[in-house]
Amino acid sequence: MFDRLPRLNPDPILGLSAAYRSDPNPLKVDLGVGVYKTEAGETPVLACVSQAEAALLEEQTTKVYTPPAGIEGANRAAAQLAFGADHSVLTDGRVATVQTPGGCGALRLAAELIAKAKPDARVWVSTPTWANHIPLLGSAGLTLREYPYYDFERHCIDFDAMYSALEHAGKDDLVLLHACCHNPSGADLTQAQWQALTELAETRGFTPFIDMAYQGFGQGLEEDAFGLRLMAERLPELVLATSFSKNLGLYRERAGSLSIVSNSPTGAEAVLSQTLSLARGLYSMPPSHGAAIVERVYHDDALRGLWLSELAQMRERIHSLREKLVQALNSRQSQRDFGFIAHEQGMFSFLGLSQPQVARLKSEFSVYMTDNSRINLAGINTSNLEYAADAISAVL
Ligand code: LMR
Repeated sequence: MFDRLPRLNPDPILGLSAAYRSDPNPLKVDLGVGVYKTEAGETPVLACVSQAEAALLEEQTTKVYTPPAGIEGANRAAAQLAFGADHSVLTDGRVATVQTPGGCGALRLAAELIAKAKPDARVWVSTPTWANHIPLLGSAGLTLREYPYYDFERHCIDFDAMYSALEHAGKDDLVLLHACCHNPSGADLTQAQWQALTELAETRGFTPFIDMAYQGFGQGLEEDAFGLRLMAERLPELVLATSFSKNLGLYRERAGSLSIVSNSPTGAEAVLSQTLSLARGLYSMPPSHGAAIVERVYHDDALRGLWLSELAQMRERIHSLREKLVQALNSRQSQRDFGFIAHEQGMFSFLGLSQPQVARLKSEFSVYMTDNSRINLAGINTSNLEYAADAISAVL
């Protein structure tokens, strides 16, 4: 039976890591998968996480199942971080939050819930969007529509085109928005644009579906949640997927959450019961280790303070790498101004290269990035900056 299945190509993002690992070139540069790296090219365990883990190990008495919704303290942390502890949707009891296996688990669970509530719902996704959004949502049977987002010529959001497309979204539609640090473009909506989209959602009746995988990597934890909080305040319903992969560096622990804002506390209770029933059919209950770390770090003042400073360090390092890369690229050639990279947010930006140019970077220079020329800025450091800038200039 399984011999009927054709062999697939490696994942367009995760497949890059294997190719990079097997490249013997000592000068190789990994600008592929979105993981934070230090100046030494490492992705270390954050100190706040190590300390939380040590305490957890010390106190651990059982490996019995976690509750279906996950660890309550972690869900509270996720919801408070996202919405702000005093947000009316939380104080009114209109949010159902469940812990999920990473942000992917949250997106997939949300897709199943949407499909159950409205099998013919359409989800509008940005062009471009994170490659994995398409299978995560499409596999649940949802119909996907695209709205224009990034203008590759002008290196910014084409907000007029985005807005015009979303004027066609209606009350049975959801619009997937990246809360901050748009993946793959790094181009974020301004506060005025969030405002305009909120008003459009009010008029048209569509439901925002917000993916917040990089909270704290743009401007800060509060600033990065601006759009989410505004929409949650003004609209009756909202879907939110969050992840602690990046901002707590918990990648492999799969710590994420799904929050659904309903228009009443009883609605939230019904949604919670439906979500738990779907999760039971998918993975039963989420893994506990990552979420136990989240709970510990968030609710312990000292660990939380340490986390905030470690997060700020990661954020500031990426901002400074953006400046350095722009300088290195612009000083080597004059045919293209890469200044836009300095104004973008989070881990990613597009270099604006063609697929053959990206292929040449890989085969001739061992510089790795996704085919659409998305780079992970955190892969740059003092030792590889000049080499990477030389290679990119050479293929221009
Ligand atoms: C990325 O976009 O590189 C990360 O979110 C990792 C992934 O799972 O694709």
